[in-house]
Amino acid sequence: MTDTNKTASLTVPGIAEPIELAMHSGTLGPDVIDVSKLVGKGLFTYDPGFVSTAACDSDLTYIDGDNGVLLHGGYPIEQLAEHSNYLELCYLLLNGELPTKQQAEEFETTITNHTMVHEQLAQFFRGFRRDAHPMAIMCGVVGALSAFYHDSLDIDEEHHRSVTAHRLIAKMPTLAAMSYKYSQGQPFMYPRNDLGYAANFLYMMFGTPCENYEPNPIIAKAMDRIFLLHADHEQNASTSTVRLAGSTGANPFACVAAGIAALWGPSHGGANEAVLNMLAEIGDESRIDEYVAKAKDKDDPFRLMGFGHRVYKNYDPRAKVMQQTCHEVLSELGVEDSPTLKMAQRLEQIALEDPYFVERKLYPNVDFYSGIILKAIGIPEELFTVIFATGRTPGWIAQWNEMISGSYKIGRPRQLYRGPAKRDYTPMAKR
Ligand code: SDX
Repeated sequence: MTDTNKTASLTVPGIAEPIELAMHSGTLGPDVIDVSKLVGKGLFTYDPGFVSTAACDSDLTYIDGDNGVLLHGGYPIEQLAEHSNYLELCYLLLNGELPTKQQAEEFETTITNHTMVHEQLAQFFRGFRRDAHPMAIMCGVVGALSAFYHDSLDIDEEHHRSVTAHRLIAKMPTLAAMSYKYSQGQPFMYPRNDLGYAANFLYMMFGTPCENYEPNPIIAKAMDRIFLLHADHEQNASTSTVRLAGSTGANPFACVAAGIAALWGPSHGGANEAVLNMLAEIGDESRIDEYVAKAKDKDDPFRLMGFGHRVYKNYDPRAKVMQQTCHEVLSELGVEDSPTLKMAQRLEQIALEDPYFVERKLYPNVDFYSGIILKAIGIPEELFTVIFATGRTPGWIAQWNEMISGSYKIGRPRQLYRGPAKRDYTPMAKR
């Protein structure tokens, strides 16, 4: 953060002198006006949904929504998707620089050696009904991880923060696969240390003790890219939840569990599952116009899932890479003419031409194509947001670590109170 000599001058009725507010500049993006002193003047800012509010400063990820730019550590997501891999991006988010060859190998070994979960954790799954939504299970078991690691919960200890980050990144795929296996009534598959991160996830998902299962390398590469595209995304709702929970000093497993809960909503990470449910509800191309009309109807709560974004008012750069990955996977699986993909492409074409969507700058977002890929791979819709949570874990824990390792205050927003003014208690006889 660069302290500028710029100040903003705020003139407020009833306050004689203009209020001078300091301004700060970042490396990229808008300047910010520091309004923290307003409370001393008897004023609050008002910004429901935090549309114009920078809640923190961060070095990790930069988004330029008007130009469809997403940078991690300064590197464009398109270049990372083409040349990097998920664990390398995890390293970048945790350390601020891309790893050397040796650092990358050591990091991969560290993550690999943390992929197993405590045997007793498997008992937690048995408390859930077989048809429990996997996100409900993930909220529970990720929060429960803190019950197993009393040796590393001192958030002021850098080593504890580091080992916790490695444990979470390593164990999320194992827990995600376990939540799937549990729903299928199949035995949990132990991770294999001879497989890469994404291939290991596919093995734990689709392997069984009855026969050898080797993941398709093209599908594994697509899975790795899906994790990579979800890794971090500035101060989105679930990351802000992790930061707010972390600002109280809560342990990182509980904070990430809070992030998982926030991600579950259909307006956020639940959108990938909602896209497939929407396409299934539309049924076929002949009904697309009917549903586009519903999406435009102010009196109809229906929205086109997978479209629009709080920040991107241009194409979500992740959606472009996801669309390309979609074609690669469907081609590899020989399902290129999938009716679902055709319907999605028709919907996208309409949305990119229809004035309602064009005027509101509603483009496909990261969730629009990801579900089509995941379904083609054989992953059930209810697991889509679990995949998102798995991919987003390095972002959550890197943002948490950035806050905890620096100076921070407990997050405590205020409000515009619209309730009754002070009044005396009304005895029952007078009500
Ligand atoms: C993610 O923040 C992040 O970075 C999130 C994320 C990440 O990586 O963490 O990128 C992941 O959550 C992507 C978004 C996934 N959600 C969806 O696809 C659900 C569908 N999208 C919408 O619910 C909506 O676009 C949001 C929630 C994503 C953004 O909502 P905003 O910024 O609050 O926008 P808004 O509701 O103020 O909408 C502006 C206008 C409104 O119309 P008007 O009142 O101006 O006439 O656009 C309309 C909205 O009604 N609109 C839509 C729409 N999205 C917005 N109309 C129809 N279909 C839609 N999808």
